[in-house]
This record gives sequence, structure tokens and C-alpha cells, in this order.
Amino acid sequence: MERTFAIIKPDAFAAGNAGKIIARIYAEGFKVVGIKKLYLSKVEAEGFYAVHRERPFFGELTDFMSSGPCIVMVLEAQNAIKKWRDLMGATNPAAAVEGSLRREFGSSVGENATHGSDAPETAAFEMGYFFSGLELL
Ligand code: RTP
Ligand code: MG
Repeated sequence: MERTFAIIKPDAFAAGNAGKIIARIYAEGFKVVGIKKLYLSKVEAEGFYAVHRERPFFGELTDFMSSGPCIVMVLEAQNAIKKWRDLMGATNPAAAVEGSLRREFGSSVGENATHGSDAPETAAFEMGYFFSGLELL
């Protein structure tokens, strides 16, 4: 079994799509090991996306991620990292496959409904950024 880290981003939360996304997560066979609602500060969003600090979209990205509440989760499944990235679809909702979460719930490259870790190292960092060990029992 593998664990990955996921976010229902502020656009999807504000639009009332969190319930539908969580229903898909269970329907696809993930176990939800940790889940909580947070309203990130700008500094917290910057720390989370620190790997993108030099990218031109960093300011826009961290403004958006701190613009409203989101839901952070730890998901468990066989090959959870790839399985969740596949369920989310491509970064740009317009390029995401039919049936993916970003295709259904995303509206632009910036406001694309969900986040998922892209590798075991980033999953470990991201889970630890938001959850203590006790919260993942
Ligand atoms: P994420 O980290 O959120 O799961 O998304 P990702 O791996 O598919 O994409 P990544 O390259 O890690 O980019 C992180 C987030 O930054 C925003 N972005 N905006 N304006 C732009 O050109 C641009 N490019 C990326 C997206 O919200 C993306 O999810
Ligand atoms: Mg990424």
C-alpha cells in the first residue's frame, strides 16, 4: 500500500464540489487516512509550494491557494500517487481526459480543483506539512 497527499483546492470547495470529489475518491477505492478543512495563510501556501518559488506563477498560485478554505487529505491505495494523479487528470482542465476530476471541476490552469503529490519524496513532505503521525492512525 502507498499513501499520497491530496487537496480539494479553494475553487472546488467554494463551488460546493467537495462532496462529489470525496465520493469519487471512495468510489475509486482509496482509503481516506486523514482529512481536514483548512484556510491557508499566504505564508503557509508559500511554504507548501516552495518548490515553485522561482516560477512566474508562484504569486498567483499562492494567492489562489490562500483565497479560501480547502480540504487536505492523505489517501491510501495500491500505487496511490499515480492512481490519484490519473484520477485528477492533466494540470490544465481543458487538456484533462473526460471523466477526470480536473476536467469535470476545474476551470483553468490556475483554478484546477485538486492537487496531488507527484513522487514519493514530495508525498512524504506534503503529508508531514499538514498532518502529524497521530492524525494518520
Ligand atoms: P499540483 O501540484 O497542484 O497537483 O499540480 P500539477 O502537479 O499538475 O502542476 P505543477 O506543475 O506542480 O503546478 C502547480 C500548480 O500551479 C498552477 N500553475 N499555474 N499559470 C500557470 O502557467 C500555471 N502553471 C501551473 C496550477 O494550479 C498547478 O496545479
Ligand atoms: Mg505539482
